Amino acid sequence: RIVFLNGSFVPFEEAKIPVMDRGFLFADGIYEVAAVLDGRLVDNEAHLARLDRSLGEIRIRNPYSSAEWTRLEEELVRRNNLAEGLVYMEVTRGAAERDFAFPPADTPPTVVMFTQPKNIRHSPLAQTGIAVITVPDQRWKRRDIKSVGLLGQVLAKQAAVEAGVGDAWMVEDGYVTEGSSSTAFIITPEKRLITRPLSNAVLPGITRLAVMKLAKEAGLAVEERLFTVEEAHGAEEAFVTSASSIVMPVVAIDGKPVGTGRPGPLALRLRALYFELAE
Ligand code: PDD
Repeated sequence: RIVFLNGSFVPFEEAKIPVMDRGFLFADGIYEVAAVLDGRLVDNEAHLARLDRSLGEIRIRNPYSSAEWTRLEEELVRRNNLAEGLVYMEVTRGAAERDFAFPPADTPPTVVMFTQPKNIRHSPLAQTGIAVITVPDQRWKRRDIKSVGLLGQVLAKQAAVEAGVGDAWMVEDGYVTEGSSSTAFIITPEKRLITRPLSNAVLPGITRLAVMKLAKEAGLAVEERLFTVEEAHGAEEAFVTSASSIVMPVVAIDGKPVGTGRPGPLALRLRALYFELAE
């Protein structure tokens, strides 16, 4: 397994990060996750644009242009013979003596990339769908930034695991914000596709945008608005989107079946359309 670290491709075992790295000490860094299908990066430009925006919001200089990132990602995919899975990218504010304020301006950012093989297209979970529980959203107020500070998501996902379900939907003021690492969608009995509008409360999902576009093209009414847990309980279908799951049907929320309790036809249709487009 080959990892990209600070300008070099190195064996996994040799990739080491200093104790004083600010990613480790302060979660002072940004990450991205992009899918690879048939050896090709999916929607990579959008992921790189979001990476650039996240870095800008916390004032870390983006060390590479979009073209340079792409070249490095493609080389990493090739070196790992990755046909299907994920590329993980992370940039931190670098290593320096521990101090909350930014380090000296000449401190180079730490840049890491690795790949993870994953069965995305033929994920067995997509056939059955997943159940979710709802949990309070305990995260900070800039969830639009893809920060490596993920304790809220870690605790939410662990609660899901301990409840024996596939994910947790986080809830704030009675409204669903998003899944622990995914965007939440419902389809109303009137067959309207609902997802929360973009704001500081949620990550602007790349898959979210692609799926909304597919839904509109397929003639589905798409509405960006808040929805409550109660409305989700009465939904006809539900699903989540992310680079790692694409479209994952949600078949139960807090133990109550969604619709028929089986993956919804529209969710499965949007999933199929996505993979057709990626071909
Ligand atoms: N997570 N919301 C949150 C909180 C996320 O962490 C993610 C992605 C998404 C979906 O975004 P996208 O469609 O761009 O993947 C929404 C990635 C997959 C992760 O942390 O592994």
